[in-house]
Amino acid sequence: MATVHNWQLGREMTYRHEGGSYDRQFAAVFNINRCIACQTCTMSCKSTWTHSPGQELMWWNNVETKPFGGYPAHWDSRLLSMLEDANPGGQTWTAERGDDDAPYGEFGGRTVFEASSPTERALGYLPQEADWKSPNRYEDHATGHSKTGASLPEHDGWFFYLARICNHCSYPACLAGCPRNAIYKRPEDGIVLVDQERCRGYQKCVESCPYKKAMYRPTTRTTEKCIACYPRVEGSDPLTDGQPMETRCMAACVGKIRLQGLVNVDDSGVWSSDPSHPLYYLVHTERVALPLYPQFGTQPNIYYIPPRWVPRKYLYQMFGPGVDDAIAAYTRPSRRLLAVLQLFRATQEMVFSFDVQEGPKLNEIMVDGEPLELFDDTVVGFDRDGREIVRVRVEDPLIERPGKINSI
Ligand code: SF4
Ligand code: SF4
Ligand code: SF4
Ligand code: F3S
Repeated sequence: MATVHNWQLGREMTYRHEGGSYDRQFAAVFNINRCIACQTCTMSCKSTWTHSPGQELMWWNNVETKPFGGYPAHWDSRLLSMLEDANPGGQTWTAERGDDDAPYGEFGGRTVFEASSPTERALGYLPQEADWKSPNRYEDHATGHSKTGASLPEHDGWFFYLARICNHCSYPACLAGCPRNAIYKRPEDGIVLVDQERCRGYQKCVESCPYKKAMYRPTTRTTEKCIACYPRVEGSDPLTDGQPMETRCMAACVGKIRLQGLVNVDDSGVWSSDPSHPLYYLVHTERVALPLYPQFGTQPNIYYIPPRWVPRKYLYQMFGPGVDDAIAAYTRPSRRLLAVLQLFRATQEMVFSFDVQEGPKLNEIMVDGEPLELFDDTVVGFDRDGREIVRVRVEDPLIERPGKINSI
């Protein structure tokens, strides 16, 4: 066992391996407030990577309706119960927030690594086949309904859509769990892959992954998982002329909820300060996007802007203590944040840095009883080599069609 630094927990923790040294880390931000559960992301992954015999129950990308839905069934409530049993009442955080090393305070409970028994490498369980068979059960089921109508800050009856892929964790539990060392994390981009030649189908990875994103394939007797569309991330897709490209599920997102990229990390896995990188800006500068179940301890790399209408206690459990600040930042966005939010799904190429050009004042609206000025600023995105690849205004331009009738 090694001692590693987990910045999402604001403390050191035990892990099976030394923290690796990565040039860059694959990461993304998903804005839950915009997801419409169209499942375009799900089908774009399925039609690309998991349409073959033995992969019928395999959905590397899935979108589940919370709080009741889950793929596999009840994956998160089961693990949360197991963590609570191992450490009753101990899943707490300190109130003080720190800098990039501890932006959400310090987690006082046990992670899946720390709560495991001496014979396990991570606390977990192996889902049964039936658990994988209904990936969208409880779709659109709300907790109840309100006779008086819904209003912010919290709705009485609520649900939301949680889009999920593998988190390409900094401390992957799947990797820790494999006795064959068949899982590895690539130093160039932090993508977590299963070596299909080494895998012998022990399924300890499936048992150990708290997000249940490693999946067994009975026809090959090996485990497969999201590969982060690595040929696109490497820039080997001819469309982008060698530049890193966003993955299939990200690029296809109809609701424009996703922004994906590669961030620089230092030797301890903390993101290097880079406020002109859109993901760094959203996660660290504005703290508007939060990790999913940071208490599991794997340091996941998909971040979520939490849904505004959901009871806070539920959100604290799912995203940690940064929820209030994140929702406040999203509800009354700074001028710069409003511009950066326009970058979501504006280009298929990966954005490595951005600039905001100020435009005229558009309007003044009331938010929570206070005025908020809106400006027609322009956000400009640049690729890895600093070339401009996208330019979006805050105000959608109005385009009038010419009088000529379109005919085909
Ligand atoms: Fe491994 Fe699960 Fe983390 Fe993906 S989400 S890297 S499968 S532990
Ligand atoms: Fe599938 Fe690629 Fe999305 Fe992973 S990143 S879920 S492999 S489409
Ligand atoms: Fe949600 Fe986007 Fe997937 Fe549609 S494509 S379900 S909007 S994440
Ligand atoms: Fe290891 Fe999982 Fe294969 S535990 S051997 S990667 S099925």
